Amino acid sequence: MNLTVHPGGPLRGCVRVLGDKSISHRALLLAALADGDSHIANFLPSGDCLATLACVRALGVDVTSIPSALLRAGPGPSPYEGTAFVVHGRGLHGLRPPAAPLDCARSGTTMRLLAGILAGQPFSSTLTGDRQLLRRPMRRIAEPLRSMGAEIETAGGHAPLTIRGRRLHGHEHTLAVASAQVKSALLLAGLYADGPTTIRQPGPARDHTERMLAAMEANVQVTSLAVTLSPLSSPLAPLSLSIPGDISSAAFPLVAAALVPGSEVTVEGVGVNPTRTGLLDVLRTMRADVTLHHEREQGNEPVADMTVRASELRGVEVGGDTVVRMIDEFPVLAVAATQAHGPTVVRDAAELRVKETDRIAAIVAGLRALGARIEPLPDGFIVEGPTPLRGGVVDSYGDHRLAMALAVAGLIAEGEVVIKNAGCIGDSFPGFVELMRGLGAAMSITKAG
Ligand code: S3P
Repeated sequence: MNLTVHPGGPLRGCVRVLGDKSISHRALLLAALADGDSHIANFLPSGDCLATLACVRALGVDVTSIPSALLRAGPGPSPYEGTAFVVHGRGLHGLRPPAAPLDCARSGTTMRLLAGILAGQPFSSTLTGDRQLLRRPMRRIAEPLRSMGAEIETAGGHAPLTIRGRRLHGHEHTLAVASAQVKSALLLAGLYADGPTTIRQPGPARDHTERMLAAMEANVQVTSLAVTLSPLSSPLAPLSLSIPGDISSAAFPLVAAALVPGSEVTVEGVGVNPTRTGLLDVLRTMRADVTLHHEREQGNEPVADMTVRASELRGVEVGGDTVVRMIDEFPVLAVAATQAHGPTVVRDAAELRVKETDRIAAIVAGLRALGARIEPLPDGFIVEGPTPLRGGVVDSYGDHRLAMALAVAGLIAEGEVVIKNAGCIGDSFPGFVELMRGLGAAMSITKAG
């Protein structure tokens, strides 16, 4: 599938985005282990999260969906609704051996978090996925899980993963990279450990797992960059939550509004967990006109409405702890940087090289094809702006965030931009094209060929 984007007039409107992808995965996985029924609203029905749903069901967990007619993500004007489920949790020791290898599709979060759970089961299992996922590094979870007593075989550090469940022990881990997927895998394994599990992280990776475990009455202690989970003294309590809107999806219409002259866009009900809001800090440093209103709590997470109005941007330097707080937003930040006055320099972001694609190489290739002045660095990139972008044909290489970032570039280019392999947008943001069109963007999906 290709996405064709035409430059056009201002973007205007008030929308909602679907539930946060990271929280959707965690809600299903943890609800599966709870004692009793969990109620989850505004779940993200994207390719990645549906992979987690299929795996949870394959492990014997009954998940019933609530008819969409009964649902509204909230009182906002957008028709984009999440999905609601009742997850009939089977307790920590109630999962059943899967009949076949578990297919994680293109979802790294599914694979890494499930590996933590499966390491402590009294049965063996295999985790596999699409070619793209089979290229991503898995030693980062296999090694620390082994130090808890897990038996995991990788294929040269990659999936498929063969896991023979074991009784696990507590361990103190010091992570080399600030990765919430690794941290979460170890916390989930820690639920099956006979002693405390401590994880020290080099930076503030997203803390949704810790928050959800605390809401389920697990004994989690967080001090600065360390987390400790102690063995449970009672079963995990079921969840009842409405998942906040995904800030990593909201980033696309919001950055588009910052760039397209005359725009003003509000996204309601977006999660503003401080471990996720690096992009807002960076946009403000770039002098973007960003306002947050109606800050509140939803499902143990902070939430707000956000408005962005178009403004002149200036270049920015991004590095250090901010990087992990916006790790998924660099493709769209690179697009913003092409329109900012002065250089934008991103460093300390080598992790971008092991995402769905090598996001440094992929965004450099895509934006150069549209006339941007962007240079790769081993751990980031440098963009010189402002540069007018031209139309052209670019490739997402099957990376959803690349596809959407290039679509934002298309809105400010001087000609038509065609993004090849755009079907992957559904991995994290089903309804992206419709939402953007509702704001006034001219884009359409066409069959490749
Ligand atoms: C995620 C963590 C991040 C992020 C990914 C989702 C999560 O990955 O890039 O999109 O849900 O824990 P890493 O943990 O590999 O940094």
